[in-house]
Formats: sequence, structure tokens, C-alpha cells
Amino acid sequence: MYSGLVHAHSGLRWVALILLLAAVVVAIGKWQGRSGYTDGNRKLYLFTLISVHTQLILGLVLFFMSPKVNFSLLSDKLYRFYSVEHTAGMLIAIVLVTIGYSRSKRASDTTAKQRLIGIFYGLGLVLILASIPWPFRIIGANWF
Ligand code: HEM
Repeated sequence: MYSGLVHAHSGLRWVALILLLAAVVVAIGKWQGRSGYTDGNRKLYLFTLISVHTQLILGLVLFFMSPKVNFSLLSDKLYRFYSVEHTAGMLIAIVLVTIGYSRSKRASDTTAKQRLIGIFYGLGLVLILASIPWPFRIIGANWF
């Protein structure tokens, strides 16, 4: 079960990254072009939110199962990365995406709706890219 969860969490990164990138490009384009808010955008922003929340659930389960999370070994780069840096970075990023979605949903002006997604999802995307254990950065990490 542990290995299945790691594979699901690792592979789903690509779904979350592609959706986030698409959402940010669409939102910034529409914000700058001052074009409308459609049902298509709304669904894209919602599916993006769902993908990062799914990662949150899988990540929380892994946090309590993974041998790479160990707070008595924080002097080691690998344990510090998974126990603190990855977890904190991703939690902040997911909070940003969630705030962006709910503030955009509540905004009445269509340009403001796109601006809020563009900014909050954009910041979340940067933080997620910086917190992923990329194989060129973290020993033993995988591409999928
Ligand atoms: C969008 C958010 C997230 C993304 C894109 C993401 C991505 C990843 C990736 C790519 C790995 C490496 C898997 C591998 O080595 O093949 C990983 C591992 C891990 N993640 Fe996340 N993660 C996210 C959120 C979280 C959160 C919120 C937590 C904790 C609350 C978390 C906890 C972990 C743990 C503990 C591991 C190590 C699993 C192991 O190899 O034992 N992740 N994550």
C-alpha cells in the first residue's frame, strides 16, 4: 500500500502541474485581455483545486507512513527535505491555491475573478515547483 501511494502521489504531480499551468495561463490572458468568465474557466480552476487537494490527502497519509519523515534525523538533508521543506512548502502552496479559488468565486467583477486566480495559482505553482523532490536535486526521487 505504501509503494502504491508513493507512485500515485508522484505521478499525480504531473496532473497538478499541467492543470496549474493551464489555469495560470488562461487566467492571466483573460485578466489582461479583460475577456469574460466562462463555464470552461470555472471548471478548469475547480479541477486544478481538486488535483492539489488530492495531493494534500495522499501527502498527509504518506507523512505518517514514510520512512523519509523522521524528526530525529533533521541534520540529514534527505530527512529534512521530506519532514520540513517539502511538507511546509506544499502546505503553504495549497493554502494559496485554496484562497485564490474561494476569493475568485466570491468576487463579483469578472476581471477580478481572473486576476485572483492568476496571482494566487501563479504563486502556488512557483512554490510547488520549488518544493518538488526533483531527481536532479534529491537522491532517490523519481520522475513519475
Ligand atoms: C501539490 C502538492 C504536492 C506535490 C506536487 C507533491 C509531490 C511529491 C513528489 C513528486 C514526491 C516524490 C515521490 C517519489 O520519490 O517518487 C513526493 C513525496 C512525498 N510527499 Fe509530496 N507532494 C505534494 C504535497 C505533499 C504534502 C501536502 C505532503 C504532506 C503533508 C506531502 C508529503 C510527502 C511525503 C512524506 C513524501 C515522501 C514519500 C516517500 O517516498 O516515502 N506531499 N511528493
